[in-house]
Amino acid sequence: MKTLTRTLLISSFFLALSQGVQAANPAHGKDLHDANCLSCHSSLMGGNPNVIYTRSDRRVNTIDGLRKQVTRCKTTVGVPWPEDQIEDVVEYLNQNFYKIK
Ligand code: HEC
Repeated sequence: MKTLTRTLLISSFFLALSQGVQAANPAHGKDLHDANCLSCHSSLMGGNPNVIYTRSDRRVNTIDGLRKQVTRCKTTVGVPWPEDQIEDVVEYLNQNFYKIK
């Protein structure tokens, strides 16, 4: 019994640990982004939504700035994304458009 309890404790500890350090998931970020963010950027950019991220006078040029802008826009949209989903979207946008190191 003691061994079983200890095994359970140890495995749930490692499970929590692995979830805590889970990397951002850009594929999930793309789904979230495309479902919630495209239409408004599309009307702003004359039908070509992702140009907002690649135009020469874009606003965002740092990861921190990207995170802030994603947070600002998701508040405008009113989607209740927790921190990890914001990170998924930030990772998607950075890998595909911003390419900030
Ligand atoms: C209701 C309209 C609207 C929606 C919906 C919207 N945005 Fe935006 N977004 C804007 C506007 C306006 C700007 C600023 C454009 C400018 O400054 O020229 C912007 C700019 C941005 C930028 C910065 C672009 C740059 O210049 O580098 C990012 C990143 C961004 N939005 C992310 C998102 C994300 C993520 C979502 C979905 C949660 C989203 N937006 C949904 C209106 C919107």
